[in-house]
Order: sequence, then structure tokens, then C-alpha cells
Amino acid sequence: MDAEKFWNNAAEKYAKSSIGNETVYREKLDATQKYFNAESVVLELGCGTGTTSIHHAPLVKHILATDISNSMLDIGRSRAKEAGIGNVSFQQATVENFESDPSSFDVVLVLNILHLIDDLDTAVKKASKLLKPGGFLVTSTPCLGDVLFNYYRILIPLLRLLGKAPPVHYVKRSELERSFADAGLEIDFQRPPAKGEAAFIVVKKPI
Ligand SMILES: C[S@@+](CC[C@H](N)C(=O)[O-])C[C@H]1O[C@@H](n2cnc3c(N)ncnc32)[C@H](O)[C@@H]1O
Repeated sequence: MDAEKFWNNAAEKYAKSSIGNETVYREKLDATQKYFNAESVVLELGCGTGTTSIHHAPLVKHILATDISNSMLDIGRSRAKEAGIGNVSFQQATVENFESDPSSFDVVLVLNILHLIDDLDTAVKKASKLLKPGGFLVTSTPCLGDVLFNYYRILIPLLRLLGKAPPVHYVKRSELERSFADAGLEIDFQRPPAKGEAAFIVVKKPI
């Protein structure tokens, strides 16, 4: 099953699922919001059902929330409407085919998506190009490549056979950091690595 079909099928269930660790999620939202102001123009790649974009919307000028899955986006659109949020636009696009002028965004959010992308380096370089000089990329990325005694390497292929897992990559935190450095992005903030927690890193595009 390809990624678009998988995520369209998964959308309803994903929308109903609870956030793993509310406290950590809130802390990440707070850490992200330090990079916003009322003039910020934000891009979210792989926005899912738009929960995070809708949360941040009152603090910024505009958020363009994109995702491969129209089913995810439809849920995001109705949630934004219900919440009375008018400054989030939802657009179907993959990380790979999304196009916009260079230096268009103050902040790019890539949350729980970089481990799903086949070509990490190209995606990071693209996000870097889309950022204005002085802008920030915020990521939270499950680093399945760092898990010791990595049962995911057995579990995920089995779940894939059953159509219950998307294509994933076993990214290591060190690979993420190297990819950011190769794209000319400098680490501005990171949560200390913690067992079972996705890597939360904010990188800056130098001026
Ligand atoms: C694990 S969910 C994360 C959603 C959201 N960012 C969050 O943190 O809740 C991954 C999302 O990425 C989307 N996705 C998967 N592959 C993608 C791609 N190549 N380009 C854009 N979106 C993609 C899926 O449709 C899904 O909504």
C-alpha cells in the first residue's frame, strides 16, 4: 500500500487517537511558540489533522498546513472551522512535491514526518530553502534507529504486511543532526534526548 492510501485509510482513527504524553506535547508547543510573533508566516509539512497548526494559529499571521492525505486535511479543515480559526490554509502536497518561492516562511514545522520520508537530506535542504534567512525549522522526529534491541525492525515489516504501518525509516538522531548541518542549519534548541521520546530539535537558517 502506498503512503497516500495508508494515511487516507488511517485518518479517522488517527483523529481519535490520544496524544501519547500530554505534558511533553505541551512543552514542545511552548518551546515552538518562542519562535513565533504576530507577523510569522508558518509552513507545516505533514500536518495530519491539523491539531498543532490550529493550536499555534492565534499567535501567528498565517499557517499553510500541508499533508499527503486529503482525508487528514478534511478533518483539519472542519476542526479549524469549528475552532473559529481563519488563518490556517490546508493544502494537499507531499514533502517531496510541495512548491513555494524560496525564503517564503519564518518557521517550518516538520513534526513526526521526517522518519516517513525516503530522502531525508533532500527534504531538509528543501525546508531550509523555503525558510527566510534567520528563520527556524522545528522538528519532532521519532528516531527508531536509536532504539536498542530494535524490535521495530521486526514489528514494522509485519504490520506493513497487514497494511497497519506506513513505510518508515530507522532514522538516528545523529543522522538528523548531520542532515541539518549539511543543509547549513544550526541547532538553536533541543530537548535532551530521552528514552521513548521523539527528538525535538529547533534549527536556525543563518542570516
Ligand atoms: C505520524 S503523522 C503526523 C501528523 C502531525 N504532524 C502530528 O504530529 O500529529 C504523519 C503525517 O504525515 C503525512 N505524510 C506521510 N508521508 C508524507 C509525505 N511524503 N508528504 C507529506 N505528508 C506525508 C501523513 O498523511 C500523516 O498525516
